[in-house]
Amino acid sequence: MRRGLFITFEGAEGSGKTTQFRMLIDGARAAGHTVVETAEPGGTPIGRQIRKILLDPSNQELSATTEILLYFAARAQNVDELVNPTLARGEIVVSDRWTDSSWAYQGVGRKLGVALVEQLDLIACRGLTPDLTIYLDIDLETGLRRARSRNLETQLNESRLDDETMEFHTTVRNAYLELVKRYPARFGVVDASGAKEQISKEIWGLVIGFIEERK
Ligand code: TYD
Repeated sequence: MRRGLFITFEGAEGSGKTTQFRMLIDGARAAGHTVVETAEPGGTPIGRQIRKILLDPSNQELSATTEILLYFAARAQNVDELVNPTLARGEIVVSDRWTDSSWAYQGVGRKLGVALVEQLDLIACRGLTPDLTIYLDIDLETGLRRARSRNLETQLNESRLDDETMEFHTTVRNAYLELVKRYPARFGVVDASGAKEQISKEIWGLVIGFIEERK
């Protein structure tokens, strides 16, 4: 029996997703909740090795099929090693991205089809779906500008997807908006263009509302 709460964060590059992820976790811990954080791709030592292959801009030959299988391979490891055991202890797991990213980037963006994403999700996650997904929505120009300046600052060699065309990123955003329409009960949509503190407050309201509702 699963007792914990599984929250995921989604959004484009430069939506401030990772900052908001951090702020929510710190706030929830300060409020006395036990929270385990994770990320996709990554989250486990094996997942982080897979992440390197996925995000290295020199891996230009990586085919779309290999790419999606690697994202789900990292996720399957995360489910077994971290997410399911944590939920079984009744704790909260917060993940920076999950299957919705594969839906938007690979299923729709790379045109592999959402049916394939659903099949792979069944294999990798075996019925585990997020209870609540925070989607940070941002217009493309603002998001990409923020993401590119961050890549230059951090010098992390992780720009393979950020380097995609505007058309690709437009498709990805539209895919997210479609997901929100499909699963309105699971998604909390937040406008990511405003001030950091305001966005964080809004997310806190959504999460606390959800926790209260489940009591
Ligand atoms: P992430 O580490 O969240 O970086 P960012 O802060 O740029 O959002 O995600 C890394 C990249 O991987 C990002 O461009 C989105 C992409 N991605 C997919 O294409 N499919 C997936 O299933 C996941 C989890 C991420």
